[in-house]
Amino acid sequence: MTRKRDEGGDALSRFGVSIDGRLLSQFDRHIQRRGYRNRSEAIRDLIRDRLVEEEWSSGNREVVGTLTLIYDHHTRELQARMTELQHRHHAHVLCTMHVHLDHHNCLEVLVVRGRPREIRALTDGLMSLKGVKHGQLAASSTGKLL
Ligand code: NI
Repeated sequence: MTRKRDEGGDALSRFGVSIDGRLLSQFDRHIQRRGYRNRSEAIRDLIRDRLVEEEWSSGNREVVGTLTLIYDHHTRELQARMTELQHRHHAHVLCTMHVHLDHHNCLEVLVVRGRPREIRALTDGLMSLKGVKHGQLAASSTGKLL
């Protein structure tokens, strides 16, 4: 779960929830482990998570994310292919960070923005390249609807 947001705007609304006692105590233990001070903030974050999931599944709104890649830069042609692919999607790559982890391995983080279909095409293209050992897309939001 990730959380950062602007809480300005609409007035607060209160609502009652009927919930099984055992489920509620499990939830309370869960949010305590996560460091929440109260249920309200935990429930707000759960709702935001579902809304972000929906932004990614509905397909039409602009989304934001980070793509982390681990790869061996000695793999033949890999860096040229990665650069070419990123240039083809230049409108969706906001910035990149590169870390030389050791003699062989590089870590690259791309901050990406665009429609989910476009971001997935870029992600799949990069992750399927020979020499890319691991890739992980963290799907997030522009925050406008949260
Ligand atoms: Ni490197």
